[in-house]
Amino acid sequence: MQINADLQQRVVVDSNAVTWLPSPLPGVERRPLERMGAESGRATSIVRYAAGSSFKAHTHPLGEEILVLQGTFADEHGLYPAGSWLKNPPGSQHAPSSPDGCLLFVKLCHMTPADTNTERIDTRTADWLPGQVEGLSVLPLDSVGSTHTSLVRWAPGTHFSPHRHMGGEEILVLEGVFQDENGDYPTGTWIRSPHNSMHQPFSAEGCLIYVKVGHL
Ligand SMILES: [Fe+2]
Ligand SMILES: [Fe+2]
Repeated sequence: MQINADLQQRVVVDSNAVTWLPSPLPGVERRPLERMGAESGRATSIVRYAAGSSFKAHTHPLGEEILVLQGTFADEHGLYPAGSWLKNPPGSQHAPSSPDGCLLFVKLCHMTPADTNTERIDTRTADWLPGQVEGLSVLPLDSVGSTHTSLVRWAPGTHFSPHRHMGGEEILVLEGVFQDENGDYPTGTWIRSPHNSMHQPFSAEGCLIYVKVGHL
């Protein structure tokens, strides 16, 4: 199954409107945002665990990245409340579950074999840095080569300069409304802008976004 698999295309998805699809395990459902092939292929999804559900033990051949949006995610290594960001590198394994249910943003199979770091960041208690313009604050999550992942908070009325995305840009709007000259993107919107695309973003009411650049 291929979904939004052409990385040359700009894609805007209201993830709240995507139909939930069953996973191989009961109680675990997914809203696919992009999918490049088989069950184990490169994919980005919103994933929902019902309370008390679990997924089979599995290995991540080319890594897994998780942002816990709601509830508490768990595996045999720990408990990860909302706001947790996890990087499980290529070759890592776990058996996930969720005692009370959770909602996750998950990216699979997008790392290179040389990317071996395991990371756990609690974005609700980590130290944020000032951004490039007034009103922006940034929490860097990961940098590998020219790929950079971060959370960015926009104070109401913040405007950023026009810029070009070398290697593309992927955004998930976590709170508020993100905007650019092409449209308004409320909470839950997923935007994938291809290599060499441009825009001039702003946020009138303020927002919190997940951003990954340089990987497309
Ligand atoms: Fe996993
Ligand atoms: Fe951008």
